[in-house]
Amino acid sequence: AEGGNAEAGKTKSATCAACHGADGNSTNPEWPKLAGQHPSYILKQLMNFKNDERVNPSMTPMAKPLSDTDMADLAAYFSSQTAKPGEADQSKVTLGEQVYKGGNNATGVAACAACHGPNGAGNPAANFPSLHGQHVTYIKNQLNSFRKGERANDAGKMMRNIATGMTDVEIDAVAEYIAGL
Ligand code: HEM
Ligand code: HEM
Repeated sequence: AEGGNAEAGKTKSATCAACHGADGNSTNPEWPKLAGQHPSYILKQLMNFKNDERVNPSMTPMAKPLSDTDMADLAAYFSSQTAKPGEADQSKVTLGEQVYKGGNNATGVAACAACHGPNGAGNPAANFPSLHGQHVTYIKNQLNSFRKGERANDAGKMMRNIATGMTDVEIDAVAEYIAGL
């Protein structure tokens, strides 16, 4: 990423591995998978935690001491790993797919696929994150956090505007669908 060194990042990732997994596949569903995430997005999140633009009691103290080189190396390492696919609750994927691919015209919810891609791969050039294989619980937490305005590091309020229009049922269903992508 942006010149990061994955080998150096691997060495620096020992403290991260406790939560995010040695290969970036966390087991606790509240901790995001980082494997395969775009380096530019990982870098942005680490900078946002360091600058208090995104706040989390676990992550803030982890990000504070990192240098720009550390962040780039860590981003290169985790992005080079492969995300393990998640498992979707099949009873919810029909609604989830509808929201993901089509949004909700009646309530002004934009289609997720427009930015995150039909398969959840995101778009590194635009810094739209990959959602591939992400944990259902983590996705729901982030959507709720955007909806409440507690997570406010999305440029142009892209995610806050979308999440504000979503119902709990839509959030639950789309998270299940994404986990199976
Ligand atoms: C989120 C990296 C250590 C727990 C994140 C994110 C990144 C990251 C890039 C944002 C992911 C996303 O937006 O998809 C790192 C690195 C670490 C580290 C590079 C080591 C230097 C830890 C540790 C813990 C932890 C040790 C647990 C004690 C979490 C949690 C979140 C998170 C709970 C989600 C925060 C939220 O809900 O907003 N981490 N992490 N991380 N990390 Fe870490
Ligand atoms: C971030 C879901 C629509 C742009 C996220 C995250 C989730 C998510 C879960 C957090 C990822 C993480 O922390 O790893 C969704 C869902 C959508 C949707 C379910 C449809 C209902 C969109 C659309 C756009 C967009 C239409 C573009 C207009 C972004 C951006 C971020 C993001 C830029 C990263 C914000 C940051 O820099 O922290 N989205 N998204 N999303 N999404 Fe969406």
